Amino acid sequence: MMCMARMFMIFVLLIVATAAQDTFDLRRPSCRGGKGNGGCRRFDNELPCPSWQSGFETNNLHWKTIPEACVGYVGQYMYGNQYKEDSQAVIKEALIYANSLRLPRDGKNVWVFDVDDTSLSTLPYYARYGFGVEPYNATSFDDWVISWSAPALQESLKLYKRLLCLRIKIIILTERRDDQRSFTEKNLKCAGFHTWEKVLYKGPPFSGETVTEYKSAERKKLEDAGYRIVGNIGDQWSDLLGTNSSYRNFKLPNPMYYVI
Ligand SMILES: *[C@@H]1O[C@H](CO)[C@@H](O)[C@H](O)[C@H]1NC(C)=O
Ligand SMILES: *[C@@H]1O[C@H](CO)[C@@H](O)[C@H](O)[C@H]1NC(C)=O
Repeated sequence: MMCMARMFMIFVLLIVATAAQDTFDLRRPSCRGGKGNGGCRRFDNELPCPSWQSGFETNNLHWKTIPEACVGYVGQYMYGNQYKEDSQAVIKEALIYANSLRLPRDGKNVWVFDVDDTSLSTLPYYARYGFGVEPYNATSFDDWVISWSAPALQESLKLYKRLLCLRIKIIILTERRDDQRSFTEKNLKCAGFHTWEKVLYKGPPFSGETVTEYKSAERKKLEDAGYRIVGNIGDQWSDLLGTNSSYRNFKLPNPMYYVI
């Protein structure tokens, strides 16, 4: 009898140990969630796609086009829930911050928004070109801009609306060109971004410079004109780095392209 009970205990312990190992064995490469999610595909034959993503989202890793091995991963990320939820997490923090501000009521408080993949989504465009695996094509991207059919990023729109209620003015600062103004503004309006203090485009004088330099220079002009940049949101580090940035910067996820 005693022997049976002991064997039973050992049996139970074995099951528990196996289950625990199944959950906690950190040495095992994590392909859980199915091979279909691309999470265990490796870029450069070395690191898994989520590590590549984490690498550039933290701006440690610079890249031109997404690794071929990660096309499926990026597609799943963008169309699955994770992209939406990661964006929600950013906007949640931005809202907490914006709601906590106690600002002078002098009409000088502004929040800077980027356009592509911050206000408007280019996902329908990039989905046609392997989610960014193909090199940037200015011709087809210009056609996309002219179609003014980009949907709003719903989470960013929520922040935008709240800021208007807080009487924080919206400055839209984009690397789109001045000759794309009318299509861009039509698109912004029909996507729900119907009012702003200014929309600033990258004009010819800046054509040779990086986006970081261009956006820094534009922010400096805003500050020189007396605006207080209380917030800044973009999907690229080049929206946020440089000078005359904000008290707080918010980085949205974007695994489709990387702009310096
Ligand atoms: C870029 O896009 C245009 C318009 O869609 C197309 O005609 C052209 O072949 C593309 N160029 C490359 C290098 O893929
Ligand atoms: C803009 O940034 C530059 C360089 O960091 C700084 O010297 C300048 O004071 C800033 N301008 C304003 C108006 O804050």
